[in-house]
Amino acid sequence: MSSTPSRGMWSSRAGFILAAAGSAVGLGNIWGFPTQVGQGGGATFVVVYLACVFLICAPLMVGEIALGRRTRLSPVGAFAALAPGRRWWLVGALGVAAGVGILSFYSVIAGWAVAYIWFAATGAVSGGPDEIGRFFSEFTGNGVVSLALVVLVIGTTAAVLLGGVRTGIERVTKALMPFLILLLLALALRAVTLPGAGAGLAYYVSPDLSRLADVGVFTSALGQAFFSLSLGMGCILTYGSYLGREDSIAGSALWIVALDTSIALLAGFIIFPVGFSIAGFDPTASGPGLIFTVLPRLFAEMPGGHLFGGAFFLLLSVAAITSTISLLEVPVSHCVDALGWSRTKAVAAVAGAVFVLAVPSALGNGAVAVFTNVPGFGMGFLDLMVAAWNEFALPVGGCLTAIFVGRVWGVDRALEELRAEGAWFPAPAFWTLLIRWACPAAIALVLVAWLAATF
Ligand code: PHE
Repeated sequence: MSSTPSRGMWSSRAGFILAAAGSAVGLGNIWGFPTQVGQGGGATFVVVYLACVFLICAPLMVGEIALGRRTRLSPVGAFAALAPGRRWWLVGALGVAAGVGILSFYSVIAGWAVAYIWFAATGAVSGGPDEIGRFFSEFTGNGVVSLALVVLVIGTTAAVLLGGVRTGIERVTKALMPFLILLLLALALRAVTLPGAGAGLAYYVSPDLSRLADVGVFTSALGQAFFSLSLGMGCILTYGSYLGREDSIAGSALWIVALDTSIALLAGFIIFPVGFSIAGFDPTASGPGLIFTVLPRLFAEMPGGHLFGGAFFLLLSVAAITSTISLLEVPVSHCVDALGWSRTKAVAAVAGAVFVLAVPSALGNGAVAVFTNVPGFGMGFLDLMVAAWNEFALPVGGCLTAIFVGRVWGVDRALEELRAEGAWFPAPAFWTLLIRWACPAAIALVLVAWLAATF
């Protein structure tokens, strides 16, 4: 269970925080969060989301990091090492599958973001809301282009991963995260001063409590929280396995949660004011195209809009790539650790599998009818993937991880790891209560309600 030099380590705690934040901050914050807020009815969703983040996900993140650091293994090995001879390794296996599944639709959206760097910078996407909407449907309806973009995204991710742990991920994130935050702040400032922005702000910050009766709000908020924080699939566990023993886990987790949540909230302060400044805007109707059809309006209204638009999609693409790297890392490190494959072979095989699964998501936005509207589901294949992995697989993985940490590995042993070398760890009793009772119970409740509502 000790670390071997070939596994690689972060150069410092800041390196770990940046890499984990790089994993967490991505399409989930800037594309997923506003899309889910729009479909979940605005500010009510935001309130439920924040409760999920702080009461369920933050304590779980601490547990995942501890599991990784204790075992120095990827998810399947970590669960197997702490509960030998039992089936808990299946939780890790679910995470490995989730890595492939999430990456398959993620790479489609990331491909759109990459293409929009060009479209925004050159002014190819411009004009009124109708033209911008039509441009988006024609673009995403082109199967060949969509597939080519998926290849580009997966290929780039695979190339970075072959470069090793520290060099690739840490450096890119360190350099670009501050720019992303500054740009989002500037765009939010512009957005809230648009004519008509007030209605968007009201929608975003004043909750309509009657919406709490809708269980869909809870399932999508919980799923979104897991997705955005890269939790429930062993990704943070894997990153934790490269963390030094002298670094505080609780402090690192708080930083990651705070960064990730602020960036998501900030994205909402851009999208909704801009959206509501467009006549006839319906936040529930846009689906996965929301940011691609709303933001070009903002860039059209701004002096230097091409520059801002190009920079925005560039930074979004980079943020997406630091997340795809972490998604691919989970199945790849599993193949290396458990099957003894070389890193190159593992990257090639997993990337191939991801591509195959990505095909229906890439062709499901107008190019091929059965994937665009999957019979019996009333939604596209991509939306189906989002629901299956984010709203189901990640919470299931998270629930089982909480039970594992709280009851199988045991809070005492977990606390020993969390407080190793005198590390700062606030309110251990409260954390124990959350990880043993609140997390598993709340997740199970939401999942049962989800199943009851779906079937
Ligand atoms: N958290 C990433 C995002 O918000 C997506 C992700 C999910 C990455 C799960 C890794 C694991 O974009």
